[in-house]
Amino acid sequence: MASQRIGSNLEILEEIPSTNTLLMNREPEDAPHGLVLAAEFQSQGKGRQGRRWFAPPRANLLFSVVLRPKTPLSGLATLAGACSVIEELEALGVPARLKWPNDVVARAAHDQALRDGRKLGGILCESKTEADGGTRLVLGIGLNVNLSEADFPREIRTLASSVSILLGRLVDRDPLLAGILNRLDRAWTDLEAHGGETLIRKARFLCDTLGHLTEVQLGEGRIEGIAEDLDSQGRLVLRLESGVKRLLEIGEIRQTRRMD
Ligand code: BTN
Repeated sequence: MASQRIGSNLEILEEIPSTNTLLMNREPEDAPHGLVLAAEFQSQGKGRQGRRWFAPPRANLLFSVVLRPKTPLSGLATLAGACSVIEELEALGVPARLKWPNDVVARAAHDQALRDGRKLGGILCESKTEADGGTRLVLGIGLNVNLSEADFPREIRTLASSVSILLGRLVDRDPLLAGILNRLDRAWTDLEAHGGETLIRKARFLCDTLGHLTEVQLGEGRIEGIAEDLDSQGRLVLRLESGVKRLLEIGEIRQTRRMD
């Protein structure tokens, strides 16, 4: 089951509530490792923290991948997804970066702070334990591809962007999806065979959050510190003003300022 290449088994559906929900709810035998489910439209697309993920029909990439890790790896799976998207975008000529933990953002010019990087896509990784004790991860990826500024709801128009806006032309979504899946397959194979070292090194390089004075929302509270590093499990190492280091598994970055 675990040897199936990611994407060699691809289902594309016209309209469903959510690719993540469908793969989470399938019987184990209908959700093998590497299966990819893409949708042209989701009526109940899910974002992180219970938010909705909205996308008009036939414009974006909306897909989920079943992963059956040998060891539970949810944080690293999110990073593998984000890095695969970012590297494929860069190969296409779209400068992109990771906003920890799961956002793909347009790379701001280097004299600008992270807050100028508009969101291009996001990752939602869900997991469940199967009856046989194994783990099912469902790695959901949403990427804004062929959207114009007017296609975004007014309230996020200044916060989001798309591949076509940044490139100034429409983009064929099939090769983009294939490229992301190939990269994800290679990253996953390496992760399972050799551990997370290569992935973390890559994620550190692609992560715009590091090196900034960063405010993180944690549930109801907020903490501020310097985003120093990603640890071996993909957690954010935040050094608080007191000098204490906090390891964050989740959290929402509110604001960052450069340290100059
Ligand atoms: C986020 O940034 O909040 C994560 C968004 C993840 C959206 C994708 S679209 C495909 C998959 N199916 C879903 O319902 N959500 C994810």
